[in-house]
Amino acid sequence: MPEGSVIFKIIHLSSPEYPEYLELREAVLRRPIGLRITEEELAMEEHYVHIAGLIDSRVCATTALVPEEGNKMRMIQVAISPDVQSKGIGSAMMRFIDEYCKLRSVEYIWCHARESAVAFYAKNGYSAEGESFEKVGIPHRLMHKSLVVYIMLRYPYICGLKLKTLHNTRH
Ligand SMILES: CC(C)(COP(=O)(O)OP(=O)(O)OC[C@H]1O[C@@H](n2cnc3c(N)ncnc32)[C@H](O)[C@@H]1OP(=O)(O)O)[C@@H](O)C(=O)NCCC(=O)NCCS
Repeated sequence: MPEGSVIFKIIHLSSPEYPEYLELREAVLRRPIGLRITEEELAMEEHYVHIAGLIDSRVCATTALVPEEGNKMRMIQVAISPDVQSKGIGSAMMRFIDEYCKLRSVEYIWCHARESAVAFYAKNGYSAEGESFEKVGIPHRLMHKSLVVYIMLRYPYICGLKLKTLHNTRH
């Protein structure tokens, strides 16, 4: 079962996996629509959190997170190698992202989802908002997920809830 044999890790521009990671993004997301990753995009790469999924050291999954003000993250470049799509790897990567973000008190993740992938994001807890719009020549939707409830339940001290709970139990 590929999903269970995937290891997700944060990689950097100097990591040995980075060239293969970049190639998978281009092969899955750009070449099919006749585009390449631009020099301007590459120049921004150092500001992102790059996540690669590996099966036996081979990169089979990619995404990047863009930190934003207000405890938000933008998710970009979600791609699964065609030979292992529809086997749960994309969903496993979404769970990895959730854990990564929750541990850093990120409250909100959003993305521009291709219409063809809206069901995938919805199954992973994202809600669509607004009308469909065109980007790189294909229809997209804004999708987002709030992590606030999880953080409040798991880290009540951070949110001040523990004090309230203690206070309530004394009365
Ligand atoms: C969309 C994508 C990231 C999903 O990852 P995945 O590992 O294939 O998906 P999962 O196996 O976790 O499937 C979860 C759900 O996603 C949807 N899904 C599965 N394969 C899909 C595919 N090839 N394309 C679109 N959606 C797909 C299904 O709704 C599936 O639910 P189901 O198993 O109940 O039918 C992946 O198929 C992919 O890289 N597609 C091409 C690139 C792309 O569209 N990226 C997103 C850009 S916004």
